[in-house]
Amino acid sequence: MRDKTNSRQYYTKITTHVLQEMKLKGEKIAMLTAYDYSMAKILDEAGIDVILVGDSASNVMAGHKTTLPITLDEMIYHASSVMRAVTHALVVVDLPFGTYQGNSIEALHSAIRIMKEAGANAIKIEGGEEIIGSVKRILSAGIPVVGHLGLTPQAIHKFGTYVVRATEKDEADKLVKDAHLLEHAGCFGIVLEKIPASLASLVTKQIKIPTIGIGAGSGVDGQVLVLHDMLGITTKFSPRFLRRYHNLSEEIKGSVNTYINDVKSVNFPNEREQY
Ligand code: KIV
Repeated sequence: MRDKTNSRQYYTKITTHVLQEMKLKGEKIAMLTAYDYSMAKILDEAGIDVILVGDSASNVMAGHKTTLPITLDEMIYHASSVMRAVTHALVVVDLPFGTYQGNSIEALHSAIRIMKEAGANAIKIEGGEEIIGSVKRILSAGIPVVGHLGLTPQAIHKFGTYVVRATEKDEADKLVKDAHLLEHAGCFGIVLEKIPASLASLVTKQIKIPTIGIGAGSGVDGQVLVLHDMLGITTKFSPRFLRRYHNLSEEIKGSVNTYINDVKSVNFPNEREQY
């Protein structure tokens, strides 16, 4: 079916199968993060394919410097709010740091909590070979999993920097191997973050499941951005890959300033705005 307002293919509900079909047809997948009901509703009504309740909530919602502090309970809170808003998009939720690296049983329990308590559609997990046991265990419970390779922000203290990953042959070879491992384990997609476009394109051609890039060029099956970054709510974070579609921070400040002036000058409320 076609969307009436534009030429995009319209799917009533995005599922993991729809994403696979999109890859086969060469139709790009559009994914954005959301962490609350109101934003998720806007994104869903606009027709976004996938909503990621990312652990970037730790940065943009809670103001932490890294994604490490956010807890499973907090992720479940954000994911539950998003799920109450969404009817169309597939909702993927990050397993936060410290909830899956210990062992695969712990990983399974964390994933089950997200599926059961938030009603999410799928989970995302960072890493390759190191966490493949956890990935398999989660998949064995019938929980759809998205992998995440390249720059994995939960490992920031190991990397020491947010620079582009896998520019050297050894790391690039490992990334390709990890992508195949995740595919063979049964993941339905892989996020590729901040890696050379040529490498992302190579991986995308080699594996049959969709790749979603962030700072990984255009040769991937879809793109993801952090909503607060692309809307210009955050202003300090400006990597080369980020396209800002709006300058919402300035717009909000403008509206708030007008409101303050209206209140102070008793211009608000007027006669029609009172009882
Ligand atoms: O947490 C997040 O928002 C993410 C994206 C950057 C892919 O993992």
